[in-house]
Amino acid sequence: TLPPEITIYEVGARDGLQNEKAVVPAAVKAEFIRRLAAAGLATVETTSFVNPQWVPQLADASEVLELLGDEGLGPRRPVLVPNERGLDRALEAGVGAVAIFGSATESFARKNLNRSVDESIAMFAPVVERAQGAGLWVRAYVSMCFGDPWEGPVPVDQVVSVAERLMDLGCDQLSLGDTIGVATSGHVARLLDALHDRGIGVDRIGVHFHDTYGQALSNTLVALRRGVTVVDSSAGGLGGCPYAESATGNLATEDLVWAMAGAGVRTGVDLEALLGTSAWMAQHLGRPSPSAVVRALTPA
Ligand code: HMG
Ligand code: MG
Repeated sequence: TLPPEITIYEVGARDGLQNEKAVVPAAVKAEFIRRLAAAGLATVETTSFVNPQWVPQLADASEVLELLGDEGLGPRRPVLVPNERGLDRALEAGVGAVAIFGSATESFARKNLNRSVDESIAMFAPVVERAQGAGLWVRAYVSMCFGDPWEGPVPVDQVVSVAERLMDLGCDQLSLGDTIGVATSGHVARLLDALHDRGIGVDRIGVHFHDTYGQALSNTLVALRRGVTVVDSSAGGLGGCPYAESATGNLATEDLVWAMAGAGVRTGVDLEALLGTSAWMAQHLGRPSPSAVVRALTPA
């Protein structure tokens, strides 16, 4: 059985736009986020306070939040923060929620954070402590939960161990990242079981599937049947990671909303309004959405 209701954690403005070649103007980003919220997406990750040299696409994080005003603040508008410098910038912008992002593998920790796994956890520790001291909600991503482009399949125990270390810092939620979209349903079930056995229950877990192999929705359904109720997705299926070759877009929010509507699971999202938003964004990006649901429902 599926839960009666899920929370969609919309990542299009962050995961989506960080990987687009075109640099989208801050005003368009702010408008995108406003439209997503207006379509019923209550939780919208807005941007990243990372080193702007590493992700130039989101170098305008402060400006986007300034343009959003109160709409960019509060516990349901998280931003990515890797280190204390990022946290300082996020606090200055007035955010109410942050997300740190660790890696289950050494290779991706080096590529994405310029650190080993141990060093990156040491980098996150003061971020989480200070963020919680300031009353912020804190999410921890763990990337490469299923496979890694440099290391191949990632053992479940290795993921659980990094997840435990991140949650032991005191984070409120764990998001399981299938960064390159290689997860399959049995693997998802095994990882959720292993986390449960170590005391990290589905009430604290979100799932974050990229759709490289077209498995993101079936993987999500497996997680929902096991009691997960937080699902990451991106409007129109935008997304990827600039530091992981072969990472493609996230599960499209439209694919998720369509499937949930059919199953009678509440999302709070107005599919028509969301499709309009994705079509509008696709014009700015100059390329069509990869989502089959978007293509099927968008008039030519
Ligand atoms: P580094 O170069 O090792 O940093 O980068 P550093 O500490 O040596 O600092 C170097 C310079 O950068 C310093 O400036 C810092 O001030 C500056 P200088 O003193 O030389 O003038 N700097 C910063 N400036 C602004 N904001 C900051 C910041 N940090 C340092 N926050 C670092 C280390 C972690 C910062 C870098 O590797 C980085 O920014 N990485 C982020 C990469 C990224 O954003 N990747 C995509 C997001 S993760 C993802 O997409 C996966 C996910 O979707 C889940 C999934 O799918 O699995 C979440
Ligand atoms: Mg991602």
